[in-house]
Amino acid sequence: MRTYLVTGGAGFIGSNYIHYMFGKYDNAIRIINVDALTYAGNLANLKDIENRENYTFIRADICDREAIAKIFRGNDIDRVVHFAAETHVDRSIRTPEVFVQTNVLGTAVMLNCAKAAWELPDGSFKPGKKFLHVSTDEVYGSLPEDDNAFFYETTPYDPHSPYSASKASSDMLVRSYMDTYHFPANITNCSNNYGPYQFPEKLIPLIINNALQGRKLPVYGDGKNVRDWLYVEDHAKAIDMVQEQGRLFETYNIGGHNEKQNIEIIHIILETLQEMLPEGDPRKAYVNEGLITYVEDRKGHDRRYAIAPDKIKAEIGWEPETRFRDGIRKTIRWFFENEEWMENVTSGDYQKYYEEMYGGR
Ligand code: NAD
Ligand code: TYD
Repeated sequence: MRTYLVTGGAGFIGSNYIHYMFGKYDNAIRIINVDALTYAGNLANLKDIENRENYTFIRADICDREAIAKIFRGNDIDRVVHFAAETHVDRSIRTPEVFVQTNVLGTAVMLNCAKAAWELPDGSFKPGKKFLHVSTDEVYGSLPEDDNAFFYETTPYDPHSPYSASKASSDMLVRSYMDTYHFPANITNCSNNYGPYQFPEKLIPLIINNALQGRKLPVYGDGKNVRDWLYVEDHAKAIDMVQEQGRLFETYNIGGHNEKQNIEIIHIILETLQEMLPEGDPRKAYVNEGLITYVEDRKGHDRRYAIAPDKIKAEIGWEPETRFRDGIRKTIRWFFENEEWMENVTSGDYQKYYEEMYGGR
């Protein structure tokens, strides 16, 4: 039975990935989820699978070399899928050092421990072992807005935020392991994800949550920054396909073919909420454009991201499957059905962060 070590599996994409993998492979795989449970990690995301015999959760910090080495010593790990990271650009602008710590040093620890566990005396690696580093399109910087330019795997790195700089650094470390040691790895660089279990500091869940509560919808700058949105399950599928069918040592860009301005996203969410709220629901009266509030722009705000997922399509046959209108309906339905989840995640640290960030607007 193949054993996966998933880092950051209690976060947004990691938990969706674990659900996807058990849905696909059921009892044919074993997953060990290592997560420090920061403000963004939530075991409630995995409630339905926590009692599976082929699933283990270990609370550990990826920067803790001893704890990670012990997991490799105690288990014959076949696959590492490395999600754990600090992920929010606005937080990185306020507290960059924690991003360097987790994203750069934590990745170095993961690489080093995997290398130590998998390396043979002659410097080659045990057959079949693979490490997948999950990264972002933000490492490529910002594209001009009226252009048909896209990010390709060959696009030079040009990160602007402390978050993207730390992810770029971690990508470079992975590349250095592949180049220096022939370490068996892949890197994926994906565009913005949305879907169930996303923490409501990111645009889409924040807008859904605020709209339903009648709170202001904060739009940074002119609202015309463009992101390429991908439904999270499509990302989970791509990661699995890259690890199983991709060429080792390669980087694959993953994107949604779904570029939208932030303000368009907000309009779509408001329209969809209006359609989906039942007749007579009091929220129907206030869920509308009157909530939109333009606020000060993010510092160093990248203008446009857009991925050309040509390589992954040509080599592996992966394509985004979920149309944005369908994905956003599924996401909103999930938030309707999981109001308690939202109440729990917004009741503690996040509430404090929100007050600091938006001054109670
Ligand atoms: P998230 O913030 O929702 O979750 C991150 C998880 O990592 C949390 O469970 C947290 O507890 C854990 N974690 C943080 N620091 C840790 C540490 N030191 N040790 C162990 N665990 C730690 O993030 P996400 O949105 O699910 O992103 C997952 C990965 O995908 C990240 O590497 C991110 O850079 C990448 N990515 C995200 C997006 C996106 O749109 N969200 C897009 C492309 C790539
Ligand atoms: P975000 O979800 O933070 O993802 P990223 O910055 O990693 O792309 O933000 C997506 C876009 O939405 C980005 O251009 C910033 C913008 N934004 C707002 O306009 N208001 C908000 O409250 C947030 C959180 C983001």
